[in-house]
Order: sequence, then structure tokens, then C-alpha cells
Amino acid sequence: MCGIVGYTGRRDAQPILLEGIARLEYRGYDSSGLATVNGKLYVRKAVGRVAELRKIVQTQPLAGTSGICHTRWATHGNVTEANAHPHLGGDGAVAVVHNGVIENYDTLKRELQAQGIKFKSQTDTEVIAHLIASFLDSSPLPPGEGLGVRALVDAVRRALPHLKGTYGLAVISPRFPNVIVGARLGSPLVVGLGDGENFLASDASALVGHTKRVIYLEDNQICVLAPERADILDANAASAHAEVHTLESAPGDADRGDFEHFMIKEIYEQPEVIERAMAGRLDEAEATAHFGGLNLDPQQLRQVERLIMTACGTSYHAALIGEHLFEQFARMPVEVEYASEFRYRNPPIERNTIVVGITQSGETADTLAALRESKRKGQHTIGICNVVGSSIAREVDGGVFLHAGPEIGVASTKAFTAQVTVLTLLAVHFGRMRHLSYQAGARILNELQAMPDILRATLKCHDQVAEIARKYHHVANMLYLGRQYLFPMALEGALKLKEISYIHAEGYPAAEMKHGPIALVDENTPSVFLVPHGNVYDKVMSNLEEIKARGGPVIAIATKDDVHVEAKADDIIHVPSVPEYLQPLVTAIPLQLLAYHIALLRGCDIDKPRNLAKSVTVE
Ligand code: F6R
Repeated sequence: MCGIVGYTGRRDAQPILLEGIARLEYRGYDSSGLATVNGKLYVRKAVGRVAELRKIVQTQPLAGTSGICHTRWATHGNVTEANAHPHLGGDGAVAVVHNGVIENYDTLKRELQAQGIKFKSQTDTEVIAHLIASFLDSSPLPPGEGLGVRALVDAVRRALPHLKGTYGLAVISPRFPNVIVGARLGSPLVVGLGDGENFLASDASALVGHTKRVIYLEDNQICVLAPERADILDANAASAHAEVHTLESAPGDADRGDFEHFMIKEIYEQPEVIERAMAGRLDEAEATAHFGGLNLDPQQLRQVERLIMTACGTSYHAALIGEHLFEQFARMPVEVEYASEFRYRNPPIERNTIVVGITQSGETADTLAALRESKRKGQHTIGICNVVGSSIAREVDGGVFLHAGPEIGVASTKAFTAQVTVLTLLAVHFGRMRHLSYQAGARILNELQAMPDILRATLKCHDQVAEIARKYHHVANMLYLGRQYLFPMALEGALKLKEISYIHAEGYPAAEMKHGPIALVDENTPSVFLVPHGNVYDKVMSNLEEIKARGGPVIAIATKDDVHVEAKADDIIHVPSVPEYLQPLVTAIPLQLLAYHIALLRGCDIDKPRNLAKSVTVE
């Protein structure tokens, strides 16, 4: 979380930094701040969105052709102006912006305070600024550009080993005009190479419109940027290998178009998104799917006996669906683990197990760490990831991209359906090397290919869902209930609702609710039942009756023309009839729309819900 942008060149830094940081607001939006060097160091800060910072610099603009900027997701210290970045060290000798967490900041702070240093904030970042300033003061090298810059690099390099935790850093100093020093450990940083200007950012979206040539900084690397040069150094300040990548951009993807919010735009994109997730991967002649990037030859693939899927949040729910898909189509055991738990466990993992990390952003700290830990232990790792060039995409042994396009709304929608589509194809791919027959493989591919049109038809439930939202938007609690493939969808529906509408919601296996959550049921607590036709239809209907018998209102998501459920439920949302393994895709749409409309009626900030950030780069 937190976004960083740096610019050094010949143009006015302020508008470039503000534009860049606004694109990174998805990483956090508690406060923001900007510093430029123009003879002296100048700083502006604001609590709240980047728009608040814009207002401040409109009346008090910052001149200067180099600077750094930050948007914060608070970890240490309240959301206040004092805690907003940049933080200064050595009475303005350096300014620092930081993404990550310094775990030993308390110890470092006490040591620095013992030396007489006064702290102005409650943040962990401020210790970095003071540490760098103290090493700068003790540097034998003269200040200035050119060779003298080594003094600043050296100060940063000497400060870094003291820090325990994660960081993406950008540092400027009035003693070294036009220079930005960046450093990375665990939090992403990308260098943008321009013509007579260079950029630094937490991710490449901040560079759109300025450059397509980028270098992804590796852990323990330092970058030194000036208008005419960009040096990448290792931890010993020796020149490091740096590959220049060319960005692909999809114009228009980052615009809302005619939609009121990114979330609703992204919900509507889903038919095309699943089309793109399948494109070039279906092999109808062999009734299977192909993936170019798994980096396992057919013999190795056949030897895989078990998968561990690890992820967070919505991506975790996709993994739970993946477990069912692999069981059904590949007859392979799958274990699904929250990445934040898995990374600190030490489970015995047999050979021939691959670890699959599922992530939209490719930057989620826990998922990245879980994959690193698996690699360390010799497991082949695979990333199912949306963002090309992200840390996870670059670090795994093999991968599959979702091709969902940028997902801007903080609540994940289209990335989820793309994940489920890719997992279905992967299950077919593994299945066809094992027990899945040609006929079954061919049938699944046919059914999948029909899904974009089926989702287009499903979106027609929009008005009906909006109407139901009007009836229930004032409630305080909701239950989401489903079984088998639809238990993860109950979890996902509840997560969507709570994250954007702030209504407390719980997802449960429909039968399991009798073991506790049923105590919540009363006339003010609606239950959303996922009850399309399938193997467990009658069972779920019995659970629905149990809720009705206790006076709980029921919203049923059911197969079109299901008159039976119509007679029982208070409200019904119809979805097209599809095989059970595709029900997560068709039920995702009404669940997302229901959360969206309830949040809209409650006046919530849908694309930027409180306390959240799109990319969770701290653990
Ligand atoms: C919920 C949501 C989050 C993410 C989670 C993992 O709508 O977006 O729960 O799914 O933070 O993020 P990624 O997929 O980027 O690893």
C-alpha cells in the first residue's frame, strides 16, 4: 500500500507528480504529500484524497524540476497531516517517501531520540529520514551533482541495513539538486526512462503518457536518477544488471467512460474479460487448453500430484473454486491456503506438489512471501496474475496472465471472474493429461465458450437487483449462503457487500449456518441464498425453509423459471441455467450488483471504500 512517484528533468515537477500520484491512489488514500527541490526543500501535505493536496498546491504551488510525491495508507500513526509523507531528516537535509513497514522502527526511534533527534510524526518512515540524514552528515564526500552524489547514495546505502521490514523508498535532498535515490526491499519500485528526464514510481501506471521504457527494481537494488542518467546499483553500490522493458498500454482502459464508477464498468466488462482469458488457450482438436508460461514440460506436468493454491481476499475465494474444479476435472488434490497463514507455517510438502499463487495485482505482500517461501523449499511456483511486470509475475517459475485489463475499483470483480475462467482451463489442461476424456474436455470447452453470451444475458438482472437493493439497503447484517461450488460465492458475496457498503455480512456453507449463524436470523437480517438447480438444490431449499421458519427475509439467486423457489423466497434474482461448475460465474454478477447498489444507496465511496487499498503491499 502507499504509492510513490518521483520526477527529475527539465519540466515543472508538480503537475507530473500530482498526475502520477492520482493514478496510484488505489494503493491508499488516507493522506498525500509532495516535496520539490528548488534551491531549498519545499513540502506540501494534505489529509484525505489527492484532490485535497491539489487544492493546497493551487494556492501554494511548488516550483522545481525534481521532486517526490506520496499517497498514504496508514500503518503506523493516525491519519494526520504530521503523519503524511514526505518525512524530513536532518532539519530538511533529506525528504523521504516510503511504501512498506519498518518493523524495528521503535528501537531505531529510541536510539535516534537518545542522540537528541526530535520526531515530528508517529510514523515508522520518519526513522528512515533521520537515519539517512545522520549518515549524510558523517559523509566525507562533498555535496553536489556528479561524483558528489555518491555522498547521498552512500548515506542511503548505509541506512538500509539498519531497517528490518519492507520498503520502497524515494529520497531527495536540497544538497543534491535534481537527484532522486530510490531503494527497494519487498515493496515494488519501477524506474521510468525518459528523454532528459527520469521517473520513479510504485507501479508503471503512474508513468502513462510519459514513457514506456521501464526498469523494474529488484530487491536490495538502489537507483540513482538525474535528468540525464539512471544508474541501477546493488547493495554495495556497484553497477547492477538492469533490463529495460517496454510497457504495453491499453488506451481507454483506465477511463470510466459513461459509467458512474469503475466498479460498475468492470462488472459490465466481464463477458469480454472471460473471452480474453480464454483467447489463444483453447485447443478444440485435442479438447484441452494450452498455457505457454507454465514452464513445465508435459512429462513434468504429468508428474504433478498435488497443488497448493495460496491467495488473499477475493483471489482466495477464486482458489476455493479452483479446488472444486481440479477435484472434478483432474481428480487432483488441492489445498487452499490464506497466503498470510501459509507463509508462516512449515507444512510437510511432498515432491511433485506445485504452489499456485492467485493475485490480481501481483503485489500482495503475503502472496508474494508465500510464493518465495515455497521457492526456497524447492517447489515449482506458478502465478495466476493480472498485472504484467508485477513482482509476483516476475518472480514465479511459471505463470498465467488473466488479461482482464486494469482493475481500478478497489473491490475486485472482473479479475475474479477471469481467475475462475483460467482455473477452469487449467483444471481441463491437467485433467486431459489424466482421467478427463476427450468428450468431457470437448463439452467443457463448448460450455465455456458460451459463457460470454450467458454473462451478457445475466447482466439483464441489473434493474431487478437495483430494486431489491432499495428494499434492503438499510439493514445492519446479512447472511450469504451456498453449498459446494457456491460456498466460495457466499464468501465472495459477503465480502463484496461489507467492503463497499460497510454492512456486516457473513458467508457460510448453507447447512453449516445451523451451527451458529442462524442465531443472527430475525426479520431484519436478510439471507442471500445461492440456489440454482444442481445436485444440492433440495438440500439448500431445506436450509432456505429453515431461515423462513424463523422469520428471516430471503433473497434467492435461482435458475430462471424456478417457480418452486419463487413461492418460498421474498425476492428472487434469476440467472441462466448452466452446469454447476459454471455457476460461480453467473452468480458473481448479481452478487456484485447487489453490493454495488446497496453501497450506492448508502452513499458510500464505491471505488475507494474506507480503510482499504487495492494493492496490499504490507503484511
Ligand atoms: C476484495 C479485494 C481484495 C483482494 C485481495 C488480494 O474485493 O479486492 O480482497 O482480492 O487484497 O489482492 P490480489 O488479488 O491483488 O492479490
